[in-house]
Amino acid sequence: MASTQVTIAGIHFPSCVFNASGPRDVTLPELREIGASGSGAIVMKSCTPEPRDGNEEPRYADLPLGSINSMGLPNLGYTQYCEFPKDLAEYGKPVIASLAGMQPSDFPVLVEAFQKSDVDLIEVNLSCPNVKGKPQIGYDFEASDAILSLLDGLGDKPLGVKLPPYFDFVHFESMAAVLKKHKIAFITCVNSIGNALVIDAETERPVIRPKGGFGGLGGQYLKPTALANVRKFHELLGDRVQIIGVGGVYTGTDAFEFVLAGADAVQVGTAFMQEGLGCFARIDQELQAILDRKGYASAADAKGKLKAL
Ligand SMILES: Cc1cc2nc3c(=O)[nH]c(=O)nc-3n(C[C@H](O)[C@H](O)[C@H](O)COP(=O)(O)O)c2cc1C
Repeated sequence: MASTQVTIAGIHFPSCVFNASGPRDVTLPELREIGASGSGAIVMKSCTPEPRDGNEEPRYADLPLGSINSMGLPNLGYTQYCEFPKDLAEYGKPVIASLAGMQPSDFPVLVEAFQKSDVDLIEVNLSCPNVKGKPQIGYDFEASDAILSLLDGLGDKPLGVKLPPYFDFVHFESMAAVLKKHKIAFITCVNSIGNALVIDAETERPVIRPKGGFGGLGGQYLKPTALANVRKFHELLGDRVQIIGVGGVYTGTDAFEFVLAGADAVQVGTAFMQEGLGCFARIDQELQAILDRKGYASAADAKGKLKAL
């Protein structure tokens, strides 16, 4: 059988298929369930300096081809997520912290705390679209550069950045130039497409309440954009930064497409919300079957092997 094991920033992952930050990963019991599942890692909810209730409900809706959400970063506060890795060690898989500052000066405080914790990798979320009054930092290249400058040299644990989707080659190049200035081991592409609007024609209302219905779009709607982001950053960054693809992974075929585009691993968000814990082992097995059929010894073997047409 082909191997789906992968190494990211020197850390071994038993599978390259694992959960995305956000869905069902807020509390310790939820994180334990992910630990006991087929997920190749345990990614924790993006956390902030203080606990947050998040936005008013309804704030998540399933859609025919994905999801829309405006959760507003409900989380228990970073000190809890610094403690959880001790309880999660028994599952024998990497634990990834995700953090989101409310202001630039929060970022070094959170990163320093996680550098001292038992997490294996740290994902810095520069792309949350759903906090009222806060822009997606990743769309401001100077602000992103300034924040990453505050994180240089804070510790040895691998640092990654969760990026928003970009839609213009100039923007890919601007962000790639920022990333090259800092010690970034991996990027996670992409967060949901921010500020989409889904309307229920019967009720004549939006399907979620916060921000007048504007929210982040995930699932199948996102996959072509996510694949483009993985591919473009793979072209621009080469081997110096590893890439975790996320956006519309429901099947082994989806995962294989991300690997061909240049991803080392994939995360699963909406499909995990909709299917539950079984999705990880299923997608992993489907990916193994495709790799076998195609004659690849491992997912790593197929990385970036997208052919020209
Ligand atoms: C309910 C929900 C909550 C989310 N919360 C976070 C979060 O806290 N941090 C983050 O980086 N991304 C968050 N995301 C975005 C996902 O991690 C992922 O990037 C996005 O949903 C695209 O993947 P998908 O198509 O598999 O859903 C959230 C997504 C959903 C659906």
